[in-house]
Formats: sequence, structure tokens, C-alpha cells
Amino acid sequence: MNILEKTNFKNLGELYVGKVRDVYSQKDKVILISTDRYSAFDRNLALIPCKGQVLTQTSRFWFKQTKDIVKNHILDFPDPNVVIGKKCKVIPIEMVVRGYITGITGTSLWTLYQKGQRDFGDFTLPDGMKKNQKLDHPLLTPTTKSNEHDRPLTTADIIKEKIISEELWKKLADAAIKLFKRGQEISLKHGLILVDTKYEFGLDEKGELTLVDEIHTPDSSRYWQAKTYEARIAKGLEPENFDKEFLRLWFKENCDPYKDKVVPEAPKELVEELSRRYIQIYEQITGASFKIESGDIKKRIENNLKKYTI
Ligand SMILES: Nc1ncnc2c1ncn2[C@@H]1O[C@H](COP(=O)(O)OP(=O)(O)O)[C@@H](O)[C@H]1O
Ligand SMILES: [Mg+2]
Repeated sequence: MNILEKTNFKNLGELYVGKVRDVYSQKDKVILISTDRYSAFDRNLALIPCKGQVLTQTSRFWFKQTKDIVKNHILDFPDPNVVIGKKCKVIPIEMVVRGYITGITGTSLWTLYQKGQRDFGDFTLPDGMKKNQKLDHPLLTPTTKSNEHDRPLTTADIIKEKIISEELWKKLADAAIKLFKRGQEISLKHGLILVDTKYEFGLDEKGELTLVDEIHTPDSSRYWQAKTYEARIAKGLEPENFDKEFLRLWFKENCDPYKDKVVPEAPKELVEELSRRYIQIYEQITGASFKIESGDIKKRIENNLKKYTI
């Protein structure tokens, strides 16, 4: 199977290897190459065929659908796995927006709620909420953006720690909520619930607020099937997932993904299933059919990026 694990191109700029993307940084632009790496629990767990292309093409769809709300970094899509973005000064806050109370990780809203937390700084939640219930309105639960573990932030923290000014924070919060509402609206037309997501913003060369990174991809967002949601939660079942949670669950059941030095290899069927799901979710979100590319991905990218060599 043709898979992209990593790249090491010369003359494209300084390379930063992210969790999922290889980022080549030039003076005024960034070249974001989505690989097929599957990252969860803050580590790389497997390689999923077609994932990099799905992420790039899903972002492409959403950047187009939201460009009237806030400026975005897109300059070009020279290859199915590549975004050329305007280089921005990235604001070190992960703008997490949630439409539902859910999650399984230590920092998820449901986990914290279940442990008894009600006061989240910028909002409080009432007693008696059920897992996977819709929130009255989308909530912002920002965190720090770091290579270590993300730390929750409140508006007060952001101002007190002088991460950004109050004025910029307000713009950021407003843009994130508007983007999320647009995402929910369009997703629903395609039979999907956009459950939660994460945005990154930056300031461009003019100091203007710019949406960077990726948007509403199955990596940065959780999606559920709308059609079966009500019936399933009424029966106490989990909503029909269209994301990568089942592979995360497999790792959770078969090792300690937070502590073990080496994790077991994911079963081939699960990897293939996840690849199929990534393709399906792309097709459902965008209404377009996914084009499986033949040939060596790395060679193709190298060829398509020739005009960007320095
Ligand atoms: N327009 C941009 N300007 C500068 N940096 C960007 C831009 N868009 C995305 N980035 C950065 O590129 C990286 C994307 O790679 P990713 O695999 O998501 O890395 P990470 O492990 O840091 O999340 C992120 O660190 C993100 O902040
Ligand atoms: Mg990232």
C-alpha cells in the first residue's frame, strides 16, 4: 500500500516534524504536508492509508466554506497532500469549541464533569447532564498550545498571563464560535453533527487575525451521524461515531498509551477500517467522491513542489 510516513525534502525550507504534518517553513510561507501518521495520546500510533490526503482535502473544503467569516492562511493547494499557507505568527492557544458534552481523554469535558467539576471558569454546567448531551450553546474551552500536555485556560488566565490582549481574545473567541456554527450548519445538511473541534489562529504580516493550520478535519474534530443520534442516546448507546475513537479505544484496551515505551502494532483490519472511514467521512462532509491516487506519494509531492524550492 502506498503510504506517506515522513518526508525529508531538501531546499523547501526549515523542517518541523509535527504530530501529523511535516512543515517546511520559508520566509513568508509554510508548506504543510499531511502524512498518514495517526496520532493520539500525544504520540504516533499507526499509519493510515489515504489519511493525509483526506485531511488536506477536508480542510480545503472547509476553508472555502468559511472564508467570509475570517481571513485564512491559504495560498495554494499544489498537491493532494499539501497546503501552502501564508506564514503567520501562531497564537499559542488551541481554540477548542464544543457543542456536546462528551469525550474519553483526561481533559475531555465529560471526564471532568463526571469527576464532579461544574465550574469551568468561563461557564458552569448544571447537575444531571448526560454523556453526549447537546450543550445549550457552543462552549469555548481553550488550552495552551504546547508540545507537552495541553493546559486548560480561562479568559482570566489568558489576560493575566498576558498570552494575548483582551481585545484580540474577544476577536478570537467570536471567530471560533462563528466558524463552529457554520461548521455545524453545513455538516447537518450532509447528515453529520459537528460535535467539537479545535482551531488555531495566527497574525499575518499585517497583524490581521488569520485562521491557520487545518479546519474541521476528522483529526481536529469529532463528527457523529445525525440520523441515528437521538435514538441511540435515548437507548443509552454511544452515538454513531465517524471518527478515530475506536482505534484509540483499541490502544487503551491493549496497552497503556500514556506510559508504555512501545505500543503494540494495531491490527491490520482496524487500520484498513480506519482508512475506509477517513475516506467515507471526507465524502460525506464534502459530498464529493474521494480520488485514490496511484504511484509513489513522496515522488509526486516532490514533483508538485518544484516551484516552491529555494
Ligand atoms: N500559517 C501558518 N503559519 C505558521 N505555522 C503554522 C501555520 N499553519 C499551521 N502552522 C503550524 O504547523 C504545525 C502543523 O503540524 P502538526 O502536525 O499539526 O503539528 P503539531 O504537532 O505541532 O500540532 C502546527 O504546529 C501549526 O501551529
Ligand atoms: Mg496540530
